[in-house]
Amino acid sequence: MARKFSHDVIEKNSILLLVLTLIVVAIGGLVEITPTFLIKTTIEDVKGVRPYSPLELEGRNVYIREGCYLCHSQMIRSLRAEVERYGHYSLAAESKYDHPFQWGSKRTGPDLARIGGKYSDEWHTLHMQNPRNVVPESIMPGYPFLATTALDYKHIENDLRALVDAGVPYSEEDIANAKADIEAQATPDADTDGLMARYPKAVARDFDGNPAKITELDALIAYLQMLGTLVDFNDQEKADFTQ
Ligand code: HEC
Repeated sequence: MARKFSHDVIEKNSILLLVLTLIVVAIGGLVEITPTFLIKTTIEDVKGVRPYSPLELEGRNVYIREGCYLCHSQMIRSLRAEVERYGHYSLAAESKYDHPFQWGSKRTGPDLARIGGKYSDEWHTLHMQNPRNVVPESIMPGYPFLATTALDYKHIENDLRALVDAGVPYSEEDIANAKADIEAQATPDADTDGLMARYPKAVARDFDGNPAKITELDALIAYLQMLGTLVDFNDQEKADFTQ
């Protein structure tokens, strides 16, 4: 009889219902979870994204040490208001070399994911000295000590090695040249051929207005000035982001 095998059977037998439910949930789970073990990465490669140059990385370390992420996010969401204010929404690949990532969860100040190139180095120098120098109503604290503190980069090779352990593709050559690359990027008229080959689009110049000394401010501005500048979105629109 057809009736006998209808849904009633399951509905009246709680153990059978439980077993069948578990089977259905297990199938659903496998369908969702199995592919994540079979693919190498869920992040698409995007042209232009590269690991940070050693100077940018030092600047990023200053950014983390000073807790800038407590007031600033680095992730533009795919909402119209965000894109109109900050630019193209952030791609996963743009933070794939970030350990730890700086997406942030709070915006007391604006998002910084595409701050690179928005202001001059001089603006950043004045702003970091005391934000009220350039934005009279700003509530951001000043960081005047960055301009007078020499950048301590004696451990930069270890920083790069730690990132290699986390999956960032720095080569032995990158590590061997790390100190020289910091000096080349922050010194005007230095020989930057090696630096540019290793880190395309790296901006090399004196950032803080004091060419005599490599300061923490040089590193921080080098970092801010490259944020969001690696991917060419005009080009990418045609290329569909992939390499
Ligand atoms: C207490 C919260 C707070 C902290 C901490 C903070 N900021 Fe800000 N930041 C702000 C606010 C508010 C603004 C907007 C007003 C202004 O431009 O000063 C701002 C603006 C900025 C801007 C300009 C953004 C734009 O698009 O105009 C930059 C760059 C910036 N901050 C960098 C930093 C860095 C780097 C640090 C850490 C060294 C930092 N901030 C720490 C609150 C903060």
